[in-house]
Amino acid sequence: MPRTVRRVVTSAVEYGVARAGTTVVRALDRDVVGQAHRPRGAAGRVNGWMFAYRPSNRQRNAWVVSLLGVRPTDRVLEIGFGPGVAIRELVRAGAGHVYGVDHSGVMLRQASRRNAAAIRRGRVTLARASVDRIPPAFEGPFDAVLAVNSLGFWPAPAERLAELRRRLAPGGRIALASQPRCPGATADTARAAAREIENLLEEAGFTQPSTRTLPLTPPVACVLATAPAREAGRTP
Ligand SMILES: C[S@@+](CC[C@H](N)C(=O)[O-])C[C@H]1O[C@@H](n2cnc3c(N)ncnc32)[C@H](O)[C@@H]1O
Repeated sequence: MPRTVRRVVTSAVEYGVARAGTTVVRALDRDVVGQAHRPRGAAGRVNGWMFAYRPSNRQRNAWVVSLLGVRPTDRVLEIGFGPGVAIRELVRAGAGHVYGVDHSGVMLRQASRRNAAAIRRGRVTLARASVDRIPPAFEGPFDAVLAVNSLGFWPAPAERLAELRRRLAPGGRIALASQPRCPGATADTARAAAREIENLLEEAGFTQPSTRTLPLTPPVACVLATAPAREAGRTP
């Protein structure tokens, strides 16, 4: 069987297994599923597989990485990496060093397995941490920061974004993507999410927010913005 066909078949089977797993676990424990904010336990592992193999999730993550236009000298930080799909895309896109934090131990294990070779080569550093307790080793400065379907779970997001701005080099880029997964989400839901993200970014001191849209169902909105050059004498 040709390699491409084998890869497609393998992905389809893995995706099917993950979907079947979700159905079983949902029947066993309705309270644990739908825990995208912090996947944990058996249901968390199934959620992680879903995040990793659902075609729209993969497309969404690859698209956001492509918008960042990373360079070989870039240090990039992802918040809420989940199973590590965007981390892998960042490595493929040629980022110099990729850092990531996620507060779920289950996601840290899945992302570490998915990116084991890059971690061994010293190109990826991942940690279990919440966005409001980023470890000192992740101080930066970074050239780019991204978060995909994660911002909605953060405590006090405007404050978190202001902290991330201080971790960016002057002129550093940020990409915040949202594909609303609530029942009945439409293009309007994605547009409303984008407007909210633009407002948060401006409140946090970022400049030039602009929104791009990936036409999936529902669409993905990604807001890009820039950290301003530091003004002399101004406390960051
Ligand atoms: C819906 S998943 C998205 C995962 C991945 N970005 C993707 O698109 O496939 C949200 C992720 O954000 C993480 N997360 C939520 N709140 C967080 C916080 N306060 N600090 C760090 N990670 C957080 C969750 O653990 C989860 O892995």
